[in-house]
Amino acid sequence: MSKRSIIALKFLLHLLCLAPFIYLLHLYRNGTLELNPDPVNYITHFTGDWTLYILLATLAITPLRRLSPRISFLIRFRRLIGLYAFFYATLHLATYVFLFSGYDIATALSGIRSGHPGEIITQWKIIWPAIVDDLLKRRFIQVGLLAWVILFLLAATSPSFVMRAMGGKNWQRLHRLVYVAAIAGVIHFWWLVKTGVRTPWKDTAVLTVLLLARIVYMVWKRSRKSKPAIKINAAAVRAR
Ligand code: HEM
Repeated sequence: MSKRSIIALKFLLHLLCLAPFIYLLHLYRNGTLELNPDPVNYITHFTGDWTLYILLATLAITPLRRLSPRISFLIRFRRLIGLYAFFYATLHLATYVFLFSGYDIATALSGIRSGHPGEIITQWKIIWPAIVDDLLKRRFIQVGLLAWVILFLLAATSPSFVMRAMGGKNWQRLHRLVYVAAIAGVIHFWWLVKTGVRTPWKDTAVLTVLLLARIVYMVWKRSRKSKPAIKINAAAVRAR
């Protein structure tokens, strides 16, 4: 694949990954979001859903590219898509902190405008106990936060110079945690829905297929590696 095609595809991917965010901004700007009976809930669910979709898309790259050498170039887009998963996860977390938990953005902004920037901290101090309480009591928040922390670590270590500083093996080991983040994201979803609600089943099915694909590939690779050893043993038996 030529350099130009890669650049064009990257541009297209940026547009695709930004589309949900642009759509959300559009809903906000044309007033549709305000007409929603619960806009904060809508944004929380929207950003949560897109975090998971993009996270699953990131995980799909490796098994897809193994299907054929012709699509092995897909690996060049994994980092970009992964960073968008972190972007939506951060948007989701920010929605929880600044909208869901009742952070009064209007008061904080008017505080800044009237020369009292400390209002940002005052508002933070008001909501902080409720967030800590949520974190201690609700297991779906705990597991969601675990997923976010992992994505943060992966995003922070994604630049090439960090990878070089860490060494390829260590970097790879750390980046395998993306699977833990996806599992935690899906568990987070199951734990927040009401008993009997099966909405997360589609995300769960996709994640299961992706994890199985990885296991099948590992087993296949191991069996290929062990084949020459069998041949050597057979040769040794024949020689005896
Ligand atoms: C990578 C990390 C995360 C993923 C993949 C994720 C994903 C999701 C998904 C899929 C939903 C449900 C969307 C729907 O019902 O359509 C959701 C809802 C929610 N998430 Fe997350 N989430 C993550 C992290 C977090 C964090 C860190 C927090 C807060 C600290 C959080 C708080 C919430 C809340 C409050 C809801 C709505 C719960 C309700 O309906 O009452 N999430 N999330």
